Amino acid sequence: MRIFEDMESEVRGYVRAFPAIFDTAKGANLYDEHGNRYIDFFAGAGTLNYGHNNPIISNAMIEYLQRDGIVHALDKATAAKRAFMEKFRDTILKPRGLDYKIQFTGPTGTNAVETALKLARMVKRRSNVIAFTNGYHGLTMGALAVTGNDFYRDESYGARNNADSVPFDGYLGDDVNTIGYLRKFIADKSSGIDLPAAIIVETVQGEGGINIASVEWLRELEALCREFDILLIIDDIQMGNGRTGTFFSFEEAGIKPDMVTVSKSIGGGLPMALLLMRPELDQWKPGEHTGTFRGNNLAFVAATEALSYWDNDDFADSIAHKGKIMEQELQRIANKYADLEIEVRGRGMVWGLDFGRTGFAGEISSLAFKNKLVIELAGAEDNVLKFLPPLIIEEDTLREGLCIIDNVIGELLEQKKAAMSGDTAA
Ligand SMILES: Cc1ncc(COP(=O)(O)O)c(C=O)c1O
Repeated sequence: MRIFEDMESEVRGYVRAFPAIFDTAKGANLYDEHGNRYIDFFAGAGTLNYGHNNPIISNAMIEYLQRDGIVHALDKATAAKRAFMEKFRDTILKPRGLDYKIQFTGPTGTNAVETALKLARMVKRRSNVIAFTNGYHGLTMGALAVTGNDFYRDESYGARNNADSVPFDGYLGDDVNTIGYLRKFIADKSSGIDLPAAIIVETVQGEGGINIASVEWLRELEALCREFDILLIIDDIQMGNGRTGTFFSFEEAGIKPDMVTVSKSIGGGLPMALLLMRPELDQWKPGEHTGTFRGNNLAFVAATEALSYWDNDDFADSIAHKGKIMEQELQRIANKYADLEIEVRGRGMVWGLDFGRTGFAGEISSLAFKNKLVIELAGAEDNVLKFLPPLIIEEDTLREGLCIIDNVIGELLEQKKAAMSGDTAA
């Protein structure tokens, strides 16, 4: 570990939470350089929905490289890009009745968000954008302006320009309809909030703590956008690609966003990001929003293979099945440790255990890691243990990981009890 401490910036994060030197990985399993196996309930923060080194994807990439398939081509036309767009149109867009143009942005999620915000402002000729409490959209300046948690933002960056933050679904308690609140702000010329070019939202806030927008809330949000001529941007970077059970996380709500940001698992494990936009919004001049790494061809090859999971309903059915197991097991754990008053939240195969306070979720994650399970935290206070296994995880491995969590909570509670009785005895 010395070289990481000596040479890598202090900004490094996950290496601190998961201090092992990883070497190989397959499916939902990670292996360190000593061959120890870890179950992966983190999936590269949603990048590995199809698992590590998925053989269908890896074999296609190996074959492509071996035949000297072009890897870097800026945005020139390539056979790999054509194959991806055809597959995406025929497998994802058409069956869902969606008509979007695709813009390939720089390779990471925040690049897609920047692009969406810039285009919305350009098209609507308005600078303001509305985002939601606990939203997370990336950390470059434009995306940072619509990201809630101030841990990421120092006032000196000046990142808060032209963005307002308003309450997400449930933020003010179950009784307050936050769309009604937002509506009043937008309709009232004296509210202090400028009419925005766009509203950007996650249907399930991933980093923000697995906060779920209801179907009704999303529909009301869409209606509000239509009423006031505001563009609706769904940030599906973490919750898209099947995480909530359908390819896009907004499908259940039946809404049609004006733009959708997609990244993480779309590249089948390789860096790739794109913006989907209604065709009328595509008002760019050629080369006006450019970048060197837009649409890497190896990622197109990987992505095209990954999309074959959506050729029929089998994959969605398996997500529904394993999602149910997660829900039942996590509810069982919450009931078993009722004194902890754990709230269970989730959809599809993204679930959170909210401990309502800082600290305990972190202790669980640390001890779970010692027990060879990698699991991340979420929420404003790191109060949520976030379950994000690869969607292809085998049922046995899923149950094994959930069992580790159950045992770890039990062990931590025993330790706390022992410490307290030690204190009392002293
Ligand atoms: C919803 C959402 N938007 C944007 C991003 C930023 O993506 P990236 O870290 O690839 O820049 C993330 C990353 O976690 C995300 O979850």
